[in-house]
Amino acid sequence: MTEHFDLVIRNGAVATPNGIESLDIGIAERRIVALGKIAAGRAEQEFDATGLTVLPGVIDTQVHFREPGLEHKEDLASGTAGAALGGVTAIFEMPNTTPNTLDKAALDDKLTRAKGRAWVDHAFFMGASDANAGKLGELEMLPGCAGVKIFMGSSTGSLLVADDETLEEVLRHGHRRVAIHAEDEMRLRERLALVKDGADPDQHPVWRDVETAVRATRRVLKIARKAGRRIHVLHVSTADEMAILAEHKDIATVEVLTHHLTLAAPDCYKRLGTFAQMNPPVRDQHHQDGIWAALRSGVVDCIGSDHAPHTKEEKARPYPQSPSGMPGVQTLLPVMLDHMAKGRLTLQRLIDLTSAGPARIYNIRGKGRIALGYDADFSVVDLKAKKTITNEWMATKAGWTPYHGMEITGWPMATIIRGSIVMRDGELLGRPDGAPVRFQETIQPQD
Ligand code: DOR
Repeated sequence: MTEHFDLVIRNGAVATPNGIESLDIGIAERRIVALGKIAAGRAEQEFDATGLTVLPGVIDTQVHFREPGLEHKEDLASGTAGAALGGVTAIFEMPNTTPNTLDKAALDDKLTRAKGRAWVDHAFFMGASDANAGKLGELEMLPGCAGVKIFMGSSTGSLLVADDETLEEVLRHGHRRVAIHAEDEMRLRERLALVKDGADPDQHPVWRDVETAVRATRRVLKIARKAGRRIHVLHVSTADEMAILAEHKDIATVEVLTHHLTLAAPDCYKRLGTFAQMNPPVRDQHHQDGIWAALRSGVVDCIGSDHAPHTKEEKARPYPQSPSGMPGVQTLLPVMLDHMAKGRLTLQRLIDLTSAGPARIYNIRGKGRIALGYDADFSVVDLKAKKTITNEWMATKAGWTPYHGMEITGWPMATIIRGSIVMRDGELLGRPDGAPVRFQETIQPQD
């Protein structure tokens, strides 16, 4: 066993692959090097986790941080500060920035901007378009790239792969799992008249209806099978798609969002109006029950936040001029811990969805579990703490959360990333030192 540690985490209830164990964790050179009883006086730094539960670092594989281009909504510093405050140790960021992330220069620009400013580890998606389809096989292999993202329906920004030919072209270039926003663009256009001249925001799930989502999911599954490509269907919002996806687990993994598990129509539109507007929409209780059932039966592989910040002024525009999306990276873990406290999922399943699942889906190297040799990433939580989520707690430049006023049982007390304590008791510590996430596919010669 290593004689000296940079950090020892003592007396915590540690969530290892074996279950919850009473262990000390020894960390050296940013990795986990010892698990067991560690004698006193052998560490640079000690963290007393008495009464706390030490989870593998939570990885949020779907956030929009708006840099470059729309930094008045969010930037990499504020977005990742929210992640760290919420107990998230790594994020994957989406390509619908301005400009869109469509080539190596745009990816490298994001990686450069993140250096010394990002509080958590990070990777960036490459957007798919008809212009870069033929190059995606190379682009997806670049270090710091989480993979390719396809928007099948228009959402925030202009990224779009609407037709089957382009979709097939994209799926035929490359090998990594492709992340899909499945809403059918043709049906969205056909039905836009329903809301075009103004409507109540509760019409959002009527315009972007169940069939809009089902049609796109069916189309992409068919083409993915034809092209022999694995896909990851993001933010699945309908019970109907879950039944279909359960038949395709050999090629398709599935993400659900905290928002879809927690909010439901019509209540959310009555309370929040356009602030509850997002794509795909929050639907009624039947669909919320359907995605919970799929989560319990194992059809769901991970939970994302789809953190999509827009300012209060932008969100307050009359529907449908109001932009779609809600912040969420900071509230993902507390809200899911509260669901756990209410008996809706087990701690084991939560860890599977927030750490092990992302690692499995995206072939992340050295993250996703507490085990020897893995990165020393931990979300340290108090499962009994009772707190209230408030707008004031939010680091996002948007300055609001749909969960303002929600009382929560279970709270992130510390965020530890590659052995550095980045957040403790609600305070950010040190300086931003997030690094690019590494993937099995993108092994570099120097590794
Ligand atoms: O509601 C959404 N907002 N859905 C998306 O797909 C994009 C996101 C955003 O970037 O605002």
